[in-house]
Amino acid sequence: MATKIGFPDSKGYYGKYGGAIIPELLFGNIHELKKNYLKIMNTPSFKKEFNFLLKNYVGRPSPLYFAQNLSKKYQAQIFLKREDLNHTGSHKINNTIGQILIAKKLKKTKIIAETGAGQHGVATATVCALMGLECNIYMGAKDIERQASNYARMKMLGAQVIPATSGSKTLKDATNEAIRAWINEPLSTHYIIGSVVGPAPYPDMVTRFQSVISKEIKSQLSEYGFKKPDFLIACIGGGSNAAGTFFHFLNEPKTKLIGVEAAGLGIESGKSAATLILGRFGVLHGSKTILMQDKDGQITEPHSISAGLDYPGIGPLHPFLKDIKRAQYISATDMEAVEAGLELTKLEGIIPALESAHALAALKKIAFKKNACVVISLSGRGDKDLETYQNYLKK
Ligand SMILES: Cc1ncc(COP(=O)(O)O)c(C=O)c1O
Repeated sequence: MATKIGFPDSKGYYGKYGGAIIPELLFGNIHELKKNYLKIMNTPSFKKEFNFLLKNYVGRPSPLYFAQNLSKKYQAQIFLKREDLNHTGSHKINNTIGQILIAKKLKKTKIIAETGAGQHGVATATVCALMGLECNIYMGAKDIERQASNYARMKMLGAQVIPATSGSKTLKDATNEAIRAWINEPLSTHYIIGSVVGPAPYPDMVTRFQSVISKEIKSQLSEYGFKKPDFLIACIGGGSNAAGTFFHFLNEPKTKLIGVEAAGLGIESGKSAATLILGRFGVLHGSKTILMQDKDGQITEPHSISAGLDYPGIGPLHPFLKDIKRAQYISATDMEAVEAGLELTKLEGIIPALESAHALAALKKIAFKKNACVVISLSGRGDKDLETYQNYLKK
């Protein structure tokens, strides 16, 4: 069956990407989720509670801010979608609110999650505190160090944070551990995956929860007198803020969609996380996608200054959008991202997360028509990254 842009087919595939490549012990959970997620999401009571919490707990709609000083510098009309102003400081909470409501409807008593930058971990620990569910978060040991403030927040919120000490001790390793833990306790547990990755139906479910971002952009832009943007730009870790930002514009071919991956120390340096540029077809974390691997199919350890982009795979929607030439994927190095983050801080008084700073770095890489309408997803705030910014300034 042909895939309608933005939606997988009945088996969870976007073209040749996606599916559910899972161990037998998880068949029950994945089948239960697949059978129920759309049914639950379409009930009036779910919609009411989800929308109520997005409005009154998360603080949505997040503003679409016209960045006057940045616009002047780049000779374009630049808008920032302020996901950094959400409760807990990033877009991740849109998804965790949705998934915890689904978990409750499925009568799960325990939640597990992986986290890289700690934003998804904090968003998950937050909704678990709110709903009174037990919460275990897996986080790479390296990320616990570089995102120490989020580690402390998760613990304060009552979550147990379990360090992943294998591999590069980052997001991939945390995800491996979380999947392993889920296999041990499948019946009572829901795994809140934090991006548009993992086995079907997660990529579709998370895309739907994050699509509130582009729904709001559409109506907010019209208040500024624009029908649609010329460009939408978002950073890509697993790809959830990008999927949410692109979703309601996928069928607007005049809007160019740009995803920005982390080039780390440089594409050719062997220390990067630019999956779509460097990767090949394979299976990672339950889904057929593009991933960084060596000639023997072993995963290449990724590197990015930003813990949320430090991942060797990507959600299956994105390679599909790349193949059909609906979206374009570029990359920004650690240094380009830090400089773009510092530039936003100086020009607009907003300190962005290092992840979001990669999206901002695209401003120097794209030739815009004068006064082009450009919307950038400011996926998170930079409080968690202050030490990294400061270390860079000391150099
Ligand atoms: C602020 C922020 N932006 C972006 C990302 C990348 O994730 P995704 O590509 O799923 O939006 C993360 C991941 O932790 C994040 O914390």
